[in-house]
Amino acid sequence: MALSKNVMKVQPSATLAMSAKTKEMIAKGVDVINLSIGEPDFVTPTYIQDAAIAAIHSGKTSFYTPAGGLPELKTAISQRIEAETGVHYDNKQIIATTGAKFALYLIFQVILNPGDEVLLPAPFWVSYAEQVNLAGGRPLAVKTTGMGHKVTVEDLEKAYSPKTQAVVLNSPQNPSGLIYTAAELTAIGNWAVSHDVLLISDEIYSNLVYNGNQFTSVVSLSDAIRKNTLLVTGVSKTYAMTGWRMGYVLGDAAIIKAMTTVASHATGNPTAVSQYATIAALSGEQTDAETMRQAFEKRLNYLFPKIQSLPGFELADKPQGAFYLFPNVKRAVELCGYSTTEDFVNALLEEAYVAVVPGRAFGQPDHIRISYANDLDSLAEAYQRIADFIQTKGNMEA
Ligand SMILES: Cc1ncc(COP(=O)(O)O)c(C=O)c1O
Repeated sequence: MALSKNVMKVQPSATLAMSAKTKEMIAKGVDVINLSIGEPDFVTPTYIQDAAIAAIHSGKTSFYTPAGGLPELKTAISQRIEAETGVHYDNKQIIATTGAKFALYLIFQVILNPGDEVLLPAPFWVSYAEQVNLAGGRPLAVKTTGMGHKVTVEDLEKAYSPKTQAVVLNSPQNPSGLIYTAAELTAIGNWAVSHDVLLISDEIYSNLVYNGNQFTSVVSLSDAIRKNTLLVTGVSKTYAMTGWRMGYVLGDAAIIKAMTTVASHATGNPTAVSQYATIAALSGEQTDAETMRQAFEKRLNYLFPKIQSLPGFELADKPQGAFYLFPNVKRAVELCGYSTTEDFVNALLEEAYVAVVPGRAFGQPDHIRISYANDLDSLAEAYQRIADFIQTKGNMEA
């Protein structure tokens, strides 16, 4: 039985594959420190769990909901986004989905025709390219020349063709942790408007911003830019709710309607209990979210200088948000006698018991992604293991 051409182009998620391999080793009793994960290590705050349990007991989670989410959920999303960006969206401009990942999948399904191109400034989150492939489009990695892996208008202009349908921006960025300034976003937003290219703004890490850095939402810049932008976000990272699978998109009502139609034939609706949990998360006090943000900030400030000091690791710009470091490790790979970053990463896992993700999946093969969504003791131990590993291997090579 032949598989479809679209699906043959798609690779499994490298981050999930690394996570699965690591969890397998941990299940066998190996003491692996997992820095490959893309999720907070905290459990969902109690007030959200309690709201979900109460919703189950009330009986209202037993039934299908509207495909794009409950009206009261859309209202809660609208209010939170307005509080955070100053921009108001009506319910018909909002869809709630089974995670932001499925939100992005739906977007590409409804905007792309065969051969349409989507620009992905590198490094980019692993799933964008594969989701574009699955929709029959062409993902195009854009070489970035701005400070700290940021894309500029000149970079976009070079990559543009009449087939360019959309560009995906992600700020704060996974994996580099960098944030685009309002000026940088305005230049990109105006470029997209003038070229009639849809801007897909993935702002899933917008609440995980550290050390006084400022996050600007693309949709807050101007009416013209807002109208040309789909804002994608969700509760996974801010509220430690990855397992609940709840994301949402705000933007053009016609696109939202088309996405809702596709979702109605795919998932039916996002799980009802998760919708009630999300209403509680978005409408409640934001103190738990702030406590978790502060913990991530502490971890970043602890781990960044240590990783920066490792022999053969290059990490010039301190991340401003999200929970990843993305050093260039080309010299460390050579120093330790490996020919590829993947070999280095596998040896780190199998011999030093530290799991990280090779950068190739993000479009930058000389880098690795290190997640600091782990407690400080584990981060200290992981750093020591990596340092010892490089020292031992480096000495063997010398
Ligand atoms: C940049 C980025 N966008 C979107 C997502 C999807 O998040 P979720 O599907 O959990 O809402 C992730 C998750 O890792 C991410 O890193």
